[in-house]
Amino acid sequence: MNQGTVNCGEAESYIVSCLRELGKTKEEIDSRVKEVRRDIAATGTYMHTYEELVHGARMAWRNSGRCIGRLFWKTLEVFDCRHIFKEDDIFAALQRHIDYATNGGRVRPAISIFRQSSPDGEPEVRIWNHQLIRYAGYETEHGVTGDPASVPLTRICTKLGWRSDGTDFDILPVVLQTGTREPHIYNLPRQLVKEVPIRHPHMESFHSLGLRWYGVPFISDMALEIGGIRYTAAPFNGWYMGTEIGARNLADPFRYNKLPEVAKLMGLSMDSNINLWKDRALVELNTAVLYSFKLEGVSIVDHHTAADQFVRFEEQEAALGREVSGNWSWLIPPMSPAATPIFHRHYENKIVNPNYHYQRCPFHQAP
Ligand code: ARG
Repeated sequence: MNQGTVNCGEAESYIVSCLRELGKTKEEIDSRVKEVRRDIAATGTYMHTYEELVHGARMAWRNSGRCIGRLFWKTLEVFDCRHIFKEDDIFAALQRHIDYATNGGRVRPAISIFRQSSPDGEPEVRIWNHQLIRYAGYETEHGVTGDPASVPLTRICTKLGWRSDGTDFDILPVVLQTGTREPHIYNLPRQLVKEVPIRHPHMESFHSLGLRWYGVPFISDMALEIGGIRYTAAPFNGWYMGTEIGARNLADPFRYNKLPEVAKLMGLSMDSNINLWKDRALVELNTAVLYSFKLEGVSIVDHHTAADQFVRFEEQEAALGREVSGNWSWLIPPMSPAATPIFHRHYENKIVNPNYHYQRCPFHQAP
């Protein structure tokens, strides 16, 4: 979707707050604002300077009301990919991003920003995947194999000629589209994708469940909005918090649904709720996730440490006179939430730009 003329007010207010935060003088800020106004009047849009782009992406992280990991917003590495728009070149840039971020397991937060939406109909770049690395999902006669969340995209990849192995943990190809061209699909080289086999520190038999997860989450379907400009392809990554994998991806009944198998392995009766078999299985599964990432040397944070870091972020922002908005229901971890300080605090769920936004799904979800 191309956008109309950029909103001058949004552009100005971003430029002013960004340049102020960067410590520019009043003269510098005034002259840049004039320039931006002139560009918008003449062309309907403007381009961010490199430092406006970098700081905008970092502010967008700082403003992400659902993210518990915001203490580290300033460390975000920004790759300016605005000059790249051929599919093959985009894929090459994505591989460089994955390699940089994975860093042999010492995960580094990063974002690659491709070209902005334009008012005059230049083709828009879209990544069809929800994450650059994610497992495929297939509907079979005995239920879903793989990740149920990936069934619609997997169907499309198959239609586009992708040949899968049909296992529970096949890495989906990357699907890229520019403008109204046909989507292109690319397989990620195996050695680029760090994965962690899940084992348990004490339960020998745990590995027999055959569980694994990829090391780094790269969200690739959200739009980055800075100063009235939309970047429709701006994949970013942090490192995992253990519960994302152990209490959601592998545990949700509508995802990998592994709690019954874990409980069985633990010899727990599933006949009633009062022995708390789900809770016990959750604890062991999450212990296994954290232990396995550590063992494999891949960065991960437990939810207690992440919550403490979030409180430090709040204190840091308060000291700078900035308000922290947040979505409480997303900020509390899905395990033992009341054992973290976040549970007992209150947040105003206000959407502030720059930010990362959901955007229209580029493909048909129906079978
Ligand atoms: N919750 C998503 C997943 O489990 C990842 C979202 C981003 N997470 C992060 N730690 N930056 O795959």
